[in-house]
Amino acid sequence: MNPQVEILADLPALVDRALELVLEKLQSAISTHNIATIALAGGSTPKPLYEKLAQQNLPWDKLHIFWGDERYVAPEHPDSNQRMARLAWLDKVPIPAENIHPMPTDDADPAIAAQKHEADLQAFFNSKPGEFPAFDVILLGIGDDAHTASLFPHTPALQVRDRLITIGNKDGNPRITFTAPLINAAHTVIFMVAGANKYNALTQIFADEADETTYPSRLIKPQGELWWLLDQSTNFTK
Ligand code: 6PG
Repeated sequence: MNPQVEILADLPALVDRALELVLEKLQSAISTHNIATIALAGGSTPKPLYEKLAQQNLPWDKLHIFWGDERYVAPEHPDSNQRMARLAWLDKVPIPAENIHPMPTDDADPAIAAQKHEADLQAFFNSKPGEFPAFDVILLGIGDDAHTASLFPHTPALQVRDRLITIGNKDGNPRITFTAPLINAAHTVIFMVAGANKYNALTQIFADEADETTYPSRLIKPQGELWWLLDQSTNFTK
């Protein structure tokens, strides 16, 4: 499906639009399957969205929370994506603890942690090796290098097509990340992008031709819906 691109006036407007879209997709999933699954983005852009989600009155017992990527640090570390989402949202709502599925970062070997999380996802979705479960919503951001999740330019993670979870690498620091095929299996993928520093990345991501290993967000072509919510400060016009 072609991407739906919306340019919003500013970050608050982008966050309000993202809230509207996320609520629509989660409530649709709950009314259809009595459960909704969402994988969260890290970084700074989505934090105000998580703060607004904390003010919603959702059937929290029907909502399951995952992360699309995680820095390989302890959950209480300031860089932890899990910590950011818990402080902004999850600690403020009565969501059952067992509905929150953080990426493990406690094994000495990140590869073991990745394998454990993959097994956990397969068990949760009752999927077999080689099958890519479909999250209802996956939230993503992009870096100014056009990475998304922890799929960084020219890293081995970009080539992984037969796993759900793999190891990312940012400047030598390990990450755990969804693979491109797992992201692409989602029913709805929503990118939230704000800031003038994202202009060049957006230009390359939307270019007719550009190298996917240099601009990894180009790998994201979901079978389902693809939304790009940009704010005007990106100066990007499609
Ligand atoms: C992370 C994110 C990462 C993020 C982008 C954009 O772990 O950092 O998952 O992919 O979405 O780097 O980050 P900002 O929203 O802070 O610009």
